[in-house]
Amino acid sequence: MIEKACRKILDKYYLEKGSVISILQDVQEAYGYIPEDTVFWFSEKLNIPASNFFGVATFYAQFYLKPRGKNIITACCGTACHVKGAEPMINRIRADLAIAEGEDTTYDSQFTLEKIACVGACSIAPVLIINKKIHGNMSPEKASRALKDFEKNK
Ligand code: FES
Repeated sequence: MIEKACRKILDKYYLEKGSVISILQDVQEAYGYIPEDTVFWFSEKLNIPASNFFGVATFYAQFYLKPRGKNIITACCGTACHVKGAEPMINRIRADLAIAEGEDTTYDSQFTLEKIACVGACSIAPVLIINKKIHGNMSPEKASRALKDFEKNK
């Protein structure tokens, strides 16, 4: 499914060398993530190996190779958060959202749960971020409540 969006991006970068990052940024802006078939399409059109695109896309945390949910829940997994109970908190959120094993997004695409290294708020570990709102000193129960409050107020 290569749409108009990709042709427009191609026109923009056709003559530019070293445009892999810019292309990936534009593709992600157009689709919300980087569909695999767009990578192969650009690879063929620009004669750049697909592995170059995938290499960049997997190196930078800003790129997503799978569709993400409408709401993003970020769980800090840095050392302080880990020591103070990030894992049980994450397990509780996964269970509350019924996120399937091996997945990070709910079946209805409403939520994506992602793990991240230290967000710089270690004094209030463990930290959970729901759509950019920071919740500190979380326990599994507090995290579950924060999620319910969010769902109630969205
Ligand atoms: S380790 Fe979680 S905020 Fe630093």
